[in-house]
Amino acid sequence: MAESVKVIIEGKTYEFPVVTGTEGEKAVDIRKLRQLTGYITYDPGYANTGSCTSSITYMDGEQGILRYRGIPIEQLAEHSSFVETSYLLINGMLPNFAELQMMKVQLNDASLVHEDMQIFFQNFPRSSHPMGILSAMVNALRSFYPELPISDGSTTQDMMRILSKVRTMAAMSYKISRGHKVVYPRQDLTYCANFLNMMFNSPVKPYDLDDDVVKALNVFWILHADHEQNCSTTAVRVVGSGKVNIYASISAGISALWGPLHGGANQAVINMLTHILNDGGNIAHIIARAKDKDDPYRLSGFGHRVYKTYDPRSKIIKKVCDKVLRKLHISDPLLDIAQKLEEVAVKDPYFIDHNLYPNVDFYSGILLRAIGIPTNMFTVMFAIGRLPGWIAQWKESRNDPDWKISRPRQIYTGNTKNDYIPIDQR
Ligand code: SDX
Repeated sequence: MAESVKVIIEGKTYEFPVVTGTEGEKAVDIRKLRQLTGYITYDPGYANTGSCTSSITYMDGEQGILRYRGIPIEQLAEHSSFVETSYLLINGMLPNFAELQMMKVQLNDASLVHEDMQIFFQNFPRSSHPMGILSAMVNALRSFYPELPISDGSTTQDMMRILSKVRTMAAMSYKISRGHKVVYPRQDLTYCANFLNMMFNSPVKPYDLDDDVVKALNVFWILHADHEQNCSTTAVRVVGSGKVNIYASISAGISALWGPLHGGANQAVINMLTHILNDGGNIAHIIARAKDKDDPYRLSGFGHRVYKTYDPRSKIIKKVCDKVLRKLHISDPLLDIAQKLEEVAVKDPYFIDHNLYPNVDFYSGILLRAIGIPTNMFTVMFAIGRLPGWIAQWKESRNDPDWKISRPRQIYTGNTKNDYIPIDQR
């Protein structure tokens, strides 16, 4: 017998079916709520609302579990590559050798960006934030493929174009912003090594690819690849629900990720740690501000809507960070401050009572600094990592029989009916 729940509204009992997921999560199916009762639900930020069913990523916030297509993130970080994990997310299973090779060829074939796009980059003000440039350029990317029907662009070729060209655009934007010669992608380099080479190689100083740094970048992007229905993925799905093409939908996701409460937190963490360093290492002051109800200040890199324990990704990033800093013989004072801040915060009753622990952004900025990524590109790095997740979620929504255009309701709290008053009588 299918499960259901009963709801009593104004003395009348209504019954609604229960939807149960493969991991035992349960939801009340309220698709007929307004039609039967005239009532809607109220859930700002959708903290208690499931917008869809999905088979891509599973998170258990209480246990600190994260799995892509059922595979634990710890195993993917240890054994997989970003390209292989992207295939897993987008296609639903790990590729065999031939399938992986095919994807690598497709990514290489799509790695160049139309030369005209360099003109776009050159005309952004030098002070432009890379996330604003990236969002605009991904939307602009579609203009070079006019043959696509406006409501589509969901072919594998488009997905490979986005996955490959966004990485190239990010490096190109960096070079142009510094007035340096653009370095083109190479067919003989892997996805991550190509990015590092495009970012840091130059005619006067060849860039030595370090295997540990390439591996660290693979792990960084694997950890960022998907995260169920977070803010930016919801933006991609909502924009895509209007049947617009995948480029416009991903551009919306990039804009949503930019915010300091979301993907912009990795840059905000470095700004916070630098502030503490410049303030003589005064951790107590920052902790006090974060706890002060009257102060809107939040500890960047701490807390999460879903995780109520350690974000499993932050533990892995911390290990990778330590390894890269050792290999490159870097001693970063911000790492020492971050570790002290973590030690103090996780023992503080306020953070314990609010289930606030380091999230993926807390240590990621220190790893990116060690690799040489400029701080204002940290969220771009997050965006590149999240591309396969956005693509997979967009593709899943397009194939979902239950999916429809997103159009939430509201509770109106404005003026009741009143008449227009001519300006000479106001
Ligand atoms: C990402 O959703 C995802 O999956 C996102 C992400 C992904 O991979 O896509 O994981 C990536 O965005 C990670 C989060 C990065 N953001 C930050 O590090 C910014 C700092 N964190 C907070 O702003 C906050 O924790 C959020 C935004 C992450 C979550 O906020 P919620 O779930 O809306 O929680 P809330 O704002 O309602 O806070 C609940 C309580 C409040 O106190 P009370 O009013 O209940 O007493 O916890 C407090 C908050 O004041 N609180 C914090 C805090 N985070 C929450 N207090 C101090 N410092 C913090 N960081």
